[in-house]
Amino acid sequence: DWTPESFVDATVAELKEKLGDDEVILGLSGGVDSSVAAVLLHKAIGKNLYCIFVDNGLLRKNEFESVLESYKGLGLNVKGVDSKELFYSELEGKTDPEDKRKAIGKVFVDVFEMESKKVENAKWLGQGTIYPDVIESVSVKGPSATIKSHHNVGGLPDYMKLKVVEPLNTLFKDEVRLVGKTLNIPDEILGRHPFPGPGLGIRILGDVTAEKVAILQEVDHIFIQGLKDHGLYDQVWQAGAMLLPVQSVGVMGDERTYEKVVALRAVSSLDGMTADWVHLPYEFLAEISNNIINRVKGVNRVVYDISSKPPATIEWE
Ligand code: XMP
Repeated sequence: DWTPESFVDATVAELKEKLGDDEVILGLSGGVDSSVAAVLLHKAIGKNLYCIFVDNGLLRKNEFESVLESYKGLGLNVKGVDSKELFYSELEGKTDPEDKRKAIGKVFVDVFEMESKKVENAKWLGQGTIYPDVIESVSVKGPSATIKSHHNVGGLPDYMKLKVVEPLNTLFKDEVRLVGKTLNIPDEILGRHPFPGPGLGIRILGDVTAEKVAILQEVDHIFIQGLKDHGLYDQVWQAGAMLLPVQSVGVMGDERTYEKVVALRAVSSLDGMTADWVHLPYEFLAEISNNIINRVKGVNRVVYDISSKPPATIEWE
């Protein structure tokens, strides 16, 4: 019978056998899969696992620092790479969602490649690929294959000649969480909502700038922290905020304002393929809306997205 303990024991033994004294590099994303893969590999080969965590400037507020701390707390050998400016400059002036995704993917591969080269003797690339990703990448061609390949760092140039090691590629998401729990990975990481690889870059509709990122990070933080404080976070599959490329008229004192609009989105789902909007309590939405408008300079209107997927998607871009 499959148990997370037996999986961990068997996999660690297999990895030791397979990897010996070889060095492995792995890109951490802050998400569940890459984190569990890293801890499992670390258990097998210790300091021969080199983890790279890139700050693309499109993460949630304080995410880079706090996730890096958690990883260090888990004993991982992890290098945090601040590449914010590279991403912002590649994104400058780009408004088309696919152009933005490509730009973000390209800079990510460049940064990852540059950092990987510093681990001169690395022979392997570790990846957090799980079973549904395996099925999807053989059966689906098109946008979602691209999504997964970016997410799992599949786009590394061939000349790097790294072999791929994917310790989770027989598991489903719930099994990955159980394995993570057995490995003492904090709930803060295991219970995390899915978050797209291009991050806030595809939640800022239109062109992305550091200023817009800063605004959206504040809005998103108020929303996500509010969900946690009200015990709603775990009842929602994914949530976030979008910064819309329109301004709206408002009033403050006797002044007319002309400022930004944000949309909040919270969905229930099993696998992201279909989704429904979550009927969050009106009182909660009222409180969050007030907090956003009072605290985030430059935003004067909040709307809540009540579309299901299909025909809408979860992200707006
Ligand atoms: P959609 O918007 O297609 O999203 O309904 C379904 C799930 O996929 C995530 N998503 C992405 N993940 N790179 C990713 O790594 C992407 O470009 C991307 N686009 C959407 C989305 O957050 C949701 O969980």
